[in-house]
Amino acid sequence: MEKPWGGRFRERTERVVEEFTASLPFDIRLWKEDIEGSKAYCRALMRAGILSEEEGQKILEGLDEIAGELERGEVELDPSWEDVHMLVEGLLRRKVGELGGKLHTGRSRNDQVVLDLRLWLLRTIGEQRELLAELRRALVRKAEQWFGILAPGYTHLRRAQPVLLSHYLMAYNEMFKRDSERLSECRKRVDIMPLGSSALSGNPYPIDREFLAELLGFSRISENSIDAVSDRDFALEYLSAISICMIHLSRMAEDLILWSSDEFGLVELPEGFCTGSSIMPQKKNPDVLELVRGKAGRVIGAFVSLATTLKGLPLAYNRDLQEDKEPLFGASDTFQGVLRVMVPLLEGLGIRKERLEQMASGGFAMATELADYLVHKGLPFREAHRIAGQIVRHCEEKGKDLRELSLEELRGFSELLDGDVLLWLDPHHALRRRGVPGGTSPERVKEAIERAKEELGL
Ligand code: ARG
Repeated sequence: MEKPWGGRFRERTERVVEEFTASLPFDIRLWKEDIEGSKAYCRALMRAGILSEEEGQKILEGLDEIAGELERGEVELDPSWEDVHMLVEGLLRRKVGELGGKLHTGRSRNDQVVLDLRLWLLRTIGEQRELLAELRRALVRKAEQWFGILAPGYTHLRRAQPVLLSHYLMAYNEMFKRDSERLSECRKRVDIMPLGSSALSGNPYPIDREFLAELLGFSRISENSIDAVSDRDFALEYLSAISICMIHLSRMAEDLILWSSDEFGLVELPEGFCTGSSIMPQKKNPDVLELVRGKAGRVIGAFVSLATTLKGLPLAYNRDLQEDKEPLFGASDTFQGVLRVMVPLLEGLGIRKERLEQMASGGFAMATELADYLVHKGLPFREAHRIAGQIVRHCEEKGKDLRELSLEELRGFSELLDGDVLLWLDPHHALRRRGVPGGTSPERVKEAIERAKEELGL
């Protein structure tokens, strides 16, 4: 393939160099954006009088034909094209001859590649925010379906206090809501049109950049050409947003892996989302969830990879920037794949209601209530805590649950303990007392579900 820079060189590029430097194998997925950007740029050149109407039309038709050929997989992807930008331009020149060489007037691959990436990311963020909304809808529907059911709340992975199962599910809804906000914030900074920055100093031809932004659907244009060609913050910000979301997905996966184990036995994973063992007949393994947890590492790795690429770069464009694409595409695909599988998995999730409710109040999860009861009767909290602790120790020694103690036994610890303490040991009573905004009382949780339903169009 003849190189566009051939004029300056006496020797041809080594094959090993072509293979080493090529980005075509992975940037080919930007072909649609590259053609869209090229068509807009052709229109801008026509408007500036650099291309005649007739020349422009020929180029536009040529680009459409190339799009058809790429769509149908008719193009041979030889790495000696180097990248998708040179592939499209090369194919255009084959089609319309020397005229094709006019399209790159005033444009550089440096502003072209960042335009393509931004266009691609705008579309990708849109799709992924929609998937994230689907995930939240699945959670909120379950929170509504299982409203009123108790669940054990944990701290340090030890039973702590009873909560509503819905409250627990809605905690994940909050995390995914923040993730969606982060993506939409990041989208604002992706939504900036860089074309017209040229190699680094700005396009020397009378190109109307606002017109380009309008054609391509951007809200604003970049304000400094040097920054525009060297900036990949938008990609890094996106990787950071999806890394945080993957951390949430991984934590949810971990909770579900634990909760579905025989030892916890609180939820039931849908069989279609589990795999068996080739040797142990009894197994129903949570491989999907384990992979979700595992893949979070990869996405975080992509963030670290791009951050490391960027941190030492002098202004403006450097070829290192080509290394942005594989982590970006890889992480984005991984993230999307995880969202796709988590939505139906959640929809198919089952629960073991009796066990949830029994675990919610057992294991001394009501000990705080006992202390609060004594506070209610006038004791300072620290003293109440000490007495409740003694009662727990007594129960442990006797192998009894709090609710199995007789009133006489209880009164041995404090005269303040009366028959009404049984009411306080009822987990529903404990929930009702937590009517603080953000608390687990049924009214508050119901409100949270209603708010989320409204936000999500349910
Ligand atoms: N393939 C290159 C990339 O992905 C396109 C820009 C190349 N620019 C250059 N001056 N070599 O970054």
